[in-house]
Amino acid sequence: MTLIREIRAEAEWVSPSNLAIVKYWGKKNIQEPLNPSISFTLRQAVTRTRIKAEPAVEGGFTFSLNGKVKESFNDKIEAFMLHARRHLPFIRKHHLYIESSNTFPHSSGIASSASSMSALALGLIELHNLSLGKEDTQPDRMMASGLARLGSGSAARSVYGGWTLWGRFEGLKGSSDMYAIPVEEVADDFKTIRNAILIIDPAKKKVSSSEGHSLMDFHPYRDARIGQAKDHTERLLGILKDGDWDEFFEIAENEALSLHGLMMSSTPSYTLLHPNTISALALIREARAGGLTIGFSMDAGPNVHLLYPASEEEKVRSFIEKELSALCHEQKLIYDEIGPGPERNIDEI
Ligand code: PMV
Repeated sequence: MTLIREIRAEAEWVSPSNLAIVKYWGKKNIQEPLNPSISFTLRQAVTRTRIKAEPAVEGGFTFSLNGKVKESFNDKIEAFMLHARRHLPFIRKHHLYIESSNTFPHSSGIASSASSMSALALGLIELHNLSLGKEDTQPDRMMASGLARLGSGSAARSVYGGWTLWGRFEGLKGSSDMYAIPVEEVADDFKTIRNAILIIDPAKKKVSSSEGHSLMDFHPYRDARIGQAKDHTERLLGILKDGDWDEFFEIAENEALSLHGLMMSSTPSYTLLHPNTISALALIREARAGGLTIGFSMDAGPNVHLLYPASEEEKVRSFIEKELSALCHEQKLIYDEIGPGPERNIDEI
């Protein structure tokens, strides 16, 4: 039997969300992806999570979001803790007070699972290291990625800054289904990529991502999708190195539309697209045909992620304000960009 050292300690992490360009859609085994995915970390959309550990006869937790105890998240956290307990035994003998807050509003349409689960994983590993009496309590990032993955697949990619790949891919050494790794070879243009998010509809999704993933199990296009994602992964790794925006947009848009196409061709079929989403996509393509360096991506929802180089910032902002903001819910949009990885103990976000 392992002896679990009692600790009375706190760990606090600020962790970013990310935007996938090659999308993870569908799972196998325990939270392993059907296909490799590539994303970049966002700067503004972050979650701060403080975990206070108190010795207790039995493990347990109290979760609060933006200062209020939130029991509606307990099932998701409990499922994650069941995994975490196996790797981090101190959890069995401590009560954890988990306080979380997001920089982005809960109803903004931005998924907070990547930032929140990665912050939680990093904080728990730091406390685990303390319980082992380690001098250096900094979490190992691969371990944090593997643990975050068990809470939410996309969270595996949120433990690093910049560009990240998750999922075994033969063309990249060290890649794994168990954890994400950083993508090192990136042209300067893509190291400063901008991402403006058009909030077309902030309402909660009718079909969750978990349900969407599970509809891939028997999807008629399952194998073709895996092949497509591998092909896009290989091409995107080359494009990121070379810095070619036209090819980048081709992949990003094809991935976004394929993701929504997979939803439309699932059984049961569904769509999360809003009429204004389609209007925005048409306007973005028209602007590109007119010479603006701009393209789009989408998550599993109606909102549109605009992608463009830092050098086009001014022109793109005036295009958004003139043509796109009217399509947004209460003209709501968020300007974000690629950012650094998680940080420890920051007082204000
Ligand atoms: O991490 P999850 O289970 O919420 O799935 C995320 C799926 C997409 O955001 C649609 C794609 C991705 O790779 O992030």
